[in-house]
Amino acid sequence: MSSNISISAGKDVERFFDAYANDFNAIYQVNERPIVNKAIDKWARSSMFLRFERVYQICQEIGAKSLLDVGCGPGYHDAILAKGLNIKVTGVDVADNMIKIATEASKEAGVQDDCSFEVADFMKFQSDKKFDAVLSLGVVEYIMDPEPFIKRMIECSNNVVMFSLPVKWHWLTPQRVIRYKARRCPLKFYSHLKLVNLLQSMGVNYKIDRLKRDYIVTISV
Ligand SMILES: C[S@@+](CC[C@H](N)C(=O)[O-])C[C@H]1O[C@@H](n2cnc3c(N)ncnc32)[C@H](O)[C@@H]1O
Repeated sequence: MSSNISISAGKDVERFFDAYANDFNAIYQVNERPIVNKAIDKWARSSMFLRFERVYQICQEIGAKSLLDVGCGPGYHDAILAKGLNIKVTGVDVADNMIKIATEASKEAGVQDDCSFEVADFMKFQSDKKFDAVLSLGVVEYIMDPEPFIKRMIECSNNVVMFSLPVKWHWLTPQRVIRYKARRCPLKFYSHLKLVNLLQSMGVNYKIDRLKRDYIVTISV
């Protein structure tokens, strides 16, 4: 497979996540988290864990043997999927520091032989094989033109594509807009209608579920 679509992640996104990598990874280290952060995460970030529970369940249901994690970040999901479901995982992320953490995490979990990671903008990622599942959690909202990005995920899959998007009408949205704007990281929110319009215009077979602050979209390929 090859792609001639131009770069999708801007330098601002790459810079932002390179700098944020350690703090972002800390969200997943629940047992090491200071009590205040733990409480904030439980209150404001529970959808990060809920959406992964859904993904895990779908991977189990379809008996996925291979998975591509687009914007894998610190690889938290990848180590769990490789260990729990015996899935061969490929993770791609544009931020070098995220891939360093993901590589280390797979070693710590003893699944380094089942996980491979690559620093790349997904729109430049090349693969000669398709994956049973293509996953992208907390990533598509940073892509200003999501259609080619989602199409490319579909091209890479032979069964299912799963991705999340943040809901527009949520009381936590304004603070997130301000925080990301201050750090010059582009970010897009979605109303249900906007998401339906996007998926219908693409003519794909989709399902949308809402999990607190996120929509999780499942596309059958
Ligand atoms: C909020 S983090 C989510 C990480 C991981 N999916 C998770 O849920 O833990 C978003 C990640 O997407 C990556 N990213 C954004 N745009 C990308 C692109 N075009 N190609 C590859 N990675 C991208 C960022 O570098 C960042 O690590």
